[in-house]
Amino acid sequence: SYEFLLVSEPKPKVGLIQLNRPKALNALSTPLITELNSALQTFQSNPAISAIVLTGSEKAFAAGADIKEMKDLSFSAAYGSDFIESWSSLITFLKKPLITAVNGYALGGGCELAMMGDILYASKGAVFGQPEIKLGTIPGAGGSQRLTRAIGKSRAMECILTGSNISGTQAGEWGLAARVFETPQECVDGAVATAEKIAGFSQIAVKAAKEVVNKSQELGIREGVEFERRVFHGLFGSRDQKLGMGSFAEKGPKAKVEW
Ligand code: HXC
Repeated sequence: SYEFLLVSEPKPKVGLIQLNRPKALNALSTPLITELNSALQTFQSNPAISAIVLTGSEKAFAAGADIKEMKDLSFSAAYGSDFIESWSSLITFLKKPLITAVNGYALGGGCELAMMGDILYASKGAVFGQPEIKLGTIPGAGGSQRLTRAIGKSRAMECILTGSNISGTQAGEWGLAARVFETPQECVDGAVATAEKIAGFSQIAVKAAKEVVNKSQELGIREGVEFERRVFHGLFGSRDQKLGMGSFAEKGPKAKVEW
């Protein structure tokens, strides 16, 4: 059991993590991040879980890194302890798909955490932003890179240089969110439904698909396409590919495959 998280399995093969530090609007303190890493690691190593949803409350996905914890940090302490470094392991070790369901405030580190997921869903009233400029600093957990890739340089510059917010509706129009829902509950339910759908497919293929899409963020088009082809070729060695294509060929596309 966790102090700052609620963890459940709302559907078969789906893990749900809800940030639960209501008094501080889910501000991402080091203890909270440590728990989050641990919960993700537990789902990652549980073969009964195939997809994960991360959400917050209706009021706040997360209002940022914990300002009270950071305010007196020195350069030496930040650099020496690799402050925030542990956040990046959230994405590098997680091989299973992660859907972030964003309601309420997703500011600073909260916005950055939301963008670390594989698929981002939001409700209309969500509030995204990188307000670090107002605190005399800049994004430190990938916001300047991921927001720019998601919505383009000019919009990201405006957001990061002025600290202006982006609504859930706008996030959908700009491609930051894959889908936008009317209400927070619909957003979480939608994320769980998508996770359940993904969990129903071949887990080998899902893992490979996530890996190749993520490579597109790092490689040039030529190396990326070549990497994709290698992985694609490799899947001909899997039982699931034989099951999937064999079942289609024998029984038609509506055949239900038990992976
Ligand atoms: C610590 C926080 C916090 C934060 C809110 N709280 N955000 N504590 N760190 N990031 C606390 C408040 O101090 C307050 O505690 C309680 O949560 C409720 O917040 P209020 O401000 O009273 O709520 P409200 O008036 O509804 O305003 C909501 C808000 C505002 C607009 C989201 O809280 C806000 O501006 N928060 C800071 C947002 C921000 O600047 N985020 C970026 C952080 S820097 P008390 O004890 O007073 O009741 C960052 C850098 C990332 O994330 C770099 C790498 C990770």
